[in-house]
Amino acid sequence: MQTFEQIQPLRAALQAARAQGKTVGLVPTMGAFHEGHLTLIRQAHAENDSVLVTLFVNPTQFTDPDDFDAYPRASDRDAALAAEAGADFLLLPSPEEMYPPGFDTVVVVRALSDRLEGASRPGHFTGVATVVAKLLGIAQADRAYFGEKDWQQLQVIRRLAADLNSPTEIIGVPTVREPDGLALSSRNVRLSPDQRRAATVLSTALSDAQAIADTGVQDAYEIAAWLRQTIAVQTLAKIDYAVVVDPETLQEIDTIEHGGLAAVAATFGKVRLIDNALLRPLGGYGMRR
Ligand code: PAJ
Repeated sequence: MQTFEQIQPLRAALQAARAQGKTVGLVPTMGAFHEGHLTLIRQAHAENDSVLVTLFVNPTQFTDPDDFDAYPRASDRDAALAAEAGADFLLLPSPEEMYPPGFDTVVVVRALSDRLEGASRPGHFTGVATVVAKLLGIAQADRAYFGEKDWQQLQVIRRLAADLNSPTEIIGVPTVREPDGLALSSRNVRLSPDQRRAATVLSTALSDAQAIADTGVQDAYEIAAWLRQTIAVQTLAKIDYAVVVDPETLQEIDTIEHGGLAAVAATFGKVRLIDNALLRPLGGYGMRR
């Protein structure tokens, strides 16, 4: 694996790979790798001739300076794990390399950015969209891989890639979970043992929501109310939102007749966790009009 701190030499290396007819897969990350990240890298490795992993704790997408400071950083360990999972190139840029003096462009994906995570963290998705647009431009990859764990982020990125005519295919990868259901997140290490046990309430509530939908309940508000009640039982969890929305537009829906997305966010102490699950319509997606 070749590691780069600067964009120009990386571009030259990618160009050389492409000149040999190699396809390129891009996996953008903020590091502190867990199995979720490594699954993305392995899939990129399986589907492309060369893989670029980028590791950049992007300051512009943090709305809380404490969260940015507390974000785990372990680039030596990450480099070894990325190489093992099949990365060929690793970009580890400094903030100055990504945002040199005079940098003055932002990418705003309007309608998708205000809701859910965007409502709790104003400006977050503008930071994400801007850095991802840069990374797509730098890599000019055939495919780029993002986790469904951050479902709204995935939709924002699909929108910007389509709107900006990116040649890169955006691929969503299913959420990787702990054996007890908790979605893997770099923030999980900040949970106390009690909070860690309590945090399973999110995935339990989501799978129970699917079970309820499977019994024939299609009213989205009923399912959302049920999600909220289930999470509220866990006293260590402070709910931010628990909703059922359209999986693409993220607008609230009345019925899951044609499917829906259950999305939850809650704080455990100082640690904010999110999770989501697609709700199958009765009879499965195969029955869709
Ligand atoms: P980060 O939180 O490091 O996540 C990098 C990628 O890993 C994202 O696509 C995220 O959705 C995916 N991921 C995280 N946990 C996962 C899990 N449990 N299962 C599957 N995939 C998972 O998301 C970001 O970084 C940043 O916002 C970024 C896109 C890099 C822009 O800065």
